[in-house]
Amino acid sequence: MILTTLVLPTKALKFSSVKFEGATKSKYRGPKMELTLTQPDDWHLHLRDGDLLKGVAPHSANHFGRAIVMPNLKPPITTTAAAIAYRDSILKAVPADSNFTPLMTLYLTDTTKPEEIKLARQSGVVFAVKLYPAGATTNSQDGVTDLFGNCLPVLEEMVEQNMPLLVHGEVTDPDIDVFDREKVFIDTILQPLIQRLPRLKVVMEHITTMDAVRFVESGKEGYLAATVTPQHLLLSRNALFQGGLQPHNYCLPVLKRDIHRQAIVSAVTSGSKKFFLGTDSAPHERRKKECPCGCAGIYSAPIALSLYAKVFDEAGALDKLEAFTSFNGPDFYGLPRNTTKIKLKKDSWKVPLSFSFPFGDIVPMFAGETLEWQPCLS
Ligand code: DOR
Ligand code: ZN
Repeated sequence: MILTTLVLPTKALKFSSVKFEGATKSKYRGPKMELTLTQPDDWHLHLRDGDLLKGVAPHSANHFGRAIVMPNLKPPITTTAAAIAYRDSILKAVPADSNFTPLMTLYLTDTTKPEEIKLARQSGVVFAVKLYPAGATTNSQDGVTDLFGNCLPVLEEMVEQNMPLLVHGEVTDPDIDVFDREKVFIDTILQPLIQRLPRLKVVMEHITTMDAVRFVESGKEGYLAATVTPQHLLLSRNALFQGGLQPHNYCLPVLKRDIHRQAIVSAVTSGSKKFFLGTDSAPHERRKKECPCGCAGIYSAPIALSLYAKVFDEAGALDKLEAFTSFNGPDFYGLPRNTTKIKLKKDSWKVPLSFSFPFGDIVPMFAGETLEWQPCLS
C-alpha cells in the first residue's frame, strides 16, 4: 500500500512568538469560532531519545509549555544524574525559540534507594517518580516486581519529599484478562497503597475505566488525581478492529468498552480538578507498529489539543477545557500556572497520514482524518 505523506506546516503549529488577547473566552468572528487558552502542559509524555527525540520534541514544544517526561528509555532513567543528562538532550532537541520546559521523572525499580529521592528533590528538575509494574508495557522489564515488599522505604521518603508517584495502573498477571487489569490493580495495589500512605501524592496515569474514574473521584483532592489521554476519550476498543486490525490504535492500557469512555468524558467535562491533560503520546516508528508483534503506543502530540477541544466541544463543555488543559495539572503538582496564551480556531484541517523523518515514518492518531479545532497563529 502506498500512502502519501503530508508534511504539517510547522508555522500552523507554532505559538511561541504569537501574542493573544483575552482569556478563556470563545467568541464568534464571522463564521470561525476561536478559543483562547492559557498555554497547556502535557502531564504524561514519551519523548524517547536519539533521533526519535529530535524528531518528536518540536511537536510537543510547539503546543505545550511543560511536559512530564516518562523515564522508560533503554536503559531507564533511574537516577537523578541520568534525568539531568536526559533533560539536557531534550532541551537541545526543542526549537531554539521555544520556552518548553521538560519536567523529569525517575523510573522506580525494586532497588531504588530513599537517598535517590532526596537527590531528585534537591535537583529541582525531577518532579515525580514513575511506577511501572514489571512487564506491564514498553520498556517496563526493569520495573517493580513487589511494591509493598521492595519499595516502602522509598515511598515513605516520597511522602517526606512531597514527590508524586505516577502509576501505570495495571497488574501483569497473565491469568487476569487484559481488559480487567486496571480494575484489579486498583483493588489489589492502589487502594491498599493509599490506605497505607494517605499523604503520598498519586497520579493514576492514562485512566481507561469507569472503575478508575470512581476511584479517583472518591480520593482526597490534592493527593489523588488522574491524567487522561485523547484516545481514551475518543476511542473504544472497537477502534482496534474497525475494518481490520488497527495497530495505530493499540496502546496500553488497551482501549476499553464505550461505557468506560463515556464515564471518562463525563469526569473530565464535569469540571473536577482531579483530572488533567496527559497525552501519553508514545511514538514508535511505523515499522514497529505495522509488524507481527507491534509495539503499544499512540502518537498524538501534534494533534492532541485539537482532539481534547473536540471532546469538550461535543460535550458542550468548552468552558471547562482550560482548567483541564492548563490549571488542574500545575495546581496538583504545586507549580505555577503558565502565563502565556494559545489560540484554537474552529477550522477544518486534515491530520497528516504520517510524519517523515530520516530514520522512518511515524503515523499519528487519526491519520488522514479531518478535525475541526486547530491551533493557530494570531
Ligand atoms: O501504549 C503505551 N506506550 N503505554 C505505555 O505505558 C508505554 C508507552 C510507550 O512507551 O510506548
Ligand atoms: Zn505512558
